[in-house]
Amino acid sequence: MVRNLISVAVVALTTAISVFAQQTEEQRVESLLQQMTLQEKIGQLNQLSVGGFDQNTADMMRAGMVGSILNECNPKVLNRYQKAAVEESRLGIPLIISRDVIHGFKTMFPIPLGLAATFDPELVQQGARVAAIEATASGIRWTFSPMLDIARDPRWGRIAEGSGEDTYLDAQMGVAMVKGYQGETIDQTSMAACVKHFVAYGAAEGGRDYNSTGITERTLRNVYLPPFEACVKAGAMTLMTSFNDNDGVPSTGNGFLVNDVLRGEWGFDGFVVSDWASIYEMVNHGYAENNKHAGELAINAGVDMDMMSYSYISHVEELLNEGKVSMETIDNAVRNILRIKIRLGLFENPYVDESKTEASFYTPEALEAARKSAVESAVLLTNNGVLPLNKSKVKTVLVTGPMADAPHDQLGTWTFDGDPAHTVTPLMAIRELYGNDVQVIYEPGLTFTREFDKGGIAKAVKAAKKADVILAFMGEEAIMSGEAHCLTDITLKGDQRALIEALHKTGKPVVLNIMAGRPLELDFEIANSDAILYSFHPGTMGGPAIAQLIFGDETPSGKTPITFPKNVGQIPIYYNHNMTGRPYNGTETMLYDIPLRAGQTSLGNTSYWLDTTFEPEFPFGYGLTYTTFEYSAPEIEMTEYVENDTIRACVTIKNTGDKAATEVVQLYVRDLVGSVTRPVKELKRFHRVTVAPGQTMTVGFELPVQDLAFYGKDMVKKVEPGKFQLWIAGDSASGTPVEFEVK
Ligand code: BGC
Repeated sequence: MVRNLISVAVVALTTAISVFAQQTEEQRVESLLQQMTLQEKIGQLNQLSVGGFDQNTADMMRAGMVGSILNECNPKVLNRYQKAAVEESRLGIPLIISRDVIHGFKTMFPIPLGLAATFDPELVQQGARVAAIEATASGIRWTFSPMLDIARDPRWGRIAEGSGEDTYLDAQMGVAMVKGYQGETIDQTSMAACVKHFVAYGAAEGGRDYNSTGITERTLRNVYLPPFEACVKAGAMTLMTSFNDNDGVPSTGNGFLVNDVLRGEWGFDGFVVSDWASIYEMVNHGYAENNKHAGELAINAGVDMDMMSYSYISHVEELLNEGKVSMETIDNAVRNILRIKIRLGLFENPYVDESKTEASFYTPEALEAARKSAVESAVLLTNNGVLPLNKSKVKTVLVTGPMADAPHDQLGTWTFDGDPAHTVTPLMAIRELYGNDVQVIYEPGLTFTREFDKGGIAKAVKAAKKADVILAFMGEEAIMSGEAHCLTDITLKGDQRALIEALHKTGKPVVLNIMAGRPLELDFEIANSDAILYSFHPGTMGGPAIAQLIFGDETPSGKTPITFPKNVGQIPIYYNHNMTGRPYNGTETMLYDIPLRAGQTSLGNTSYWLDTTFEPEFPFGYGLTYTTFEYSAPEIEMTEYVENDTIRACVTIKNTGDKAATEVVQLYVRDLVGSVTRPVKELKRFHRVTVAPGQTMTVGFELPVQDLAFYGKDMVKKVEPGKFQLWIAGDSASGTPVEFEVK
């Protein structure tokens, strides 16, 4: 009898599950919602950080009081929590388990700023796929990435975590990551993306993290919002609000941004999570009276899930009873979360197969993708011909510098799970790959990047005398960039400059490799070296990538995803600025050229600094390789267009050197007269092409006229008729434009 009852119950449950599975996403959402108590609804809005298995937390899951967890990634623990939610709670709604998987999970890829330097969205997508495969094998189904914050201030530590200063490049990289994380089709290796931080967080005043921003609605719409919109259109499942207040309104309480723009204008149907305690922090901002008031502001602004403020779980019921939050608002937030849990397939596959976890890490394919990404992310900034090393002439190399063998630090910021024991450093790679060709001497000089000399410099100099070439690995430890890790001085720290200078004085060629989380000031390094290869933080396989680039088995193809300032005083400096009424014209007098007691008039009245040049150290989109490319003038199919046309333009590039190499060909546009002032140049397209020595290649672009639209004076997005210039070049500072007109 009992057995019969059980089998009837099992049949009923199985039927219920299969009926549920046959319903559309929205039907499933509604049928669940109808069965939920108010407490269960509020529970879905609650995200908790956990560490290890804890009975009280599991009890909360059984009671339906938790919708999501973060910070645990032991698959056994995760399965136990998931069981509490799925099998031991009344409605069996699975948890969505999250983690900051920012540039790899176990196999670490270059930091996102380095990935942006590849200008290779396909490769970046592949890397995000690897991250998803490794993370989902541990039970993580939601990552807080990509970070889409446009950043124009290298003092800001989180510049490492984004794609740099340009809106178009940022959108391309963001979309690639979304596709890679979530997968082309949804299966158990799909990890929901979370585009963050909504919005303008990267514009923190003074480059100090969490600081206020003052970006106008027009600049938000023209510069900061488009990458978010592109990722939403690409299917990003979730979005995170930012910590900052913009023009006085903290993003986590900004209904205009979330309800009106994100959902209203873009039709986003995923869910929005706050940043860590950013609901509560509206009290610190002086925007909310207390955590309850903060919860009211956030939920009414459209923030569905509360990450670690305990505001919703503690106060939403009360707010409902007081009429400050409506049932409809609560229901909509729950709908958004359930919809994504259903879309991700969590109801069908809530658990992870623990027996397969380990085998999913550090596979040869993952390591190869990481190596390739590190190759493509390295930017050759200077080279007097010393690179690539000539293996038949160079007999002995000195490997030196604090980053030559720093397995943890070359991984960069946000390396929660990547194990330094798997890192291949440049020293290891040079020994392994080239140890038979050249003699390798290792003398670090300094043991870490902030170190002041303890006698190591003299040892390095002594060793240098025995070498034909000095390979010096400098930079920043991982801890010097990332969240809350900002600087006012962006020169190499410790006695690294003293080491470089001493090495340079030996008269031996000095090849500098710099691994850092931001663009650094490099005037001194340029003057005291023969070549600079900039690798950002290159990840697990940084060593082989750098070694192969140095020895010429790989060819540099990275381009700067951000302007490198000459000095910190130039910041913010970015290529796509608006034109002033008194533009710099190159004839200005510099401070030390001004004669004594000169009259005011001799100084020139243009927009520049007396004590430094107007130009940056390296412009956006810049990077050398082991050959040279000659660009023809761009050709354009027609010179007049109407709104729905597509502009077709091309350029011919010739590889004038003796090595095959890859070039990132970039198309820029300038709108000459607008209802508001327009950027002097904007990147609109790029192509990576590989050209054999001596060969020419024609590279064509298609650009719909619609892509010239922007928010002008009336705050409506449209193309304003008039004249434009178009460049096709190897960086943002070169090339000659052709003109066209939109009628
Ligand atoms: C960061 C987010 C991150 C979150 C969860 C916050 O401090 O700003 O980017 O996703 O923590 O770890």
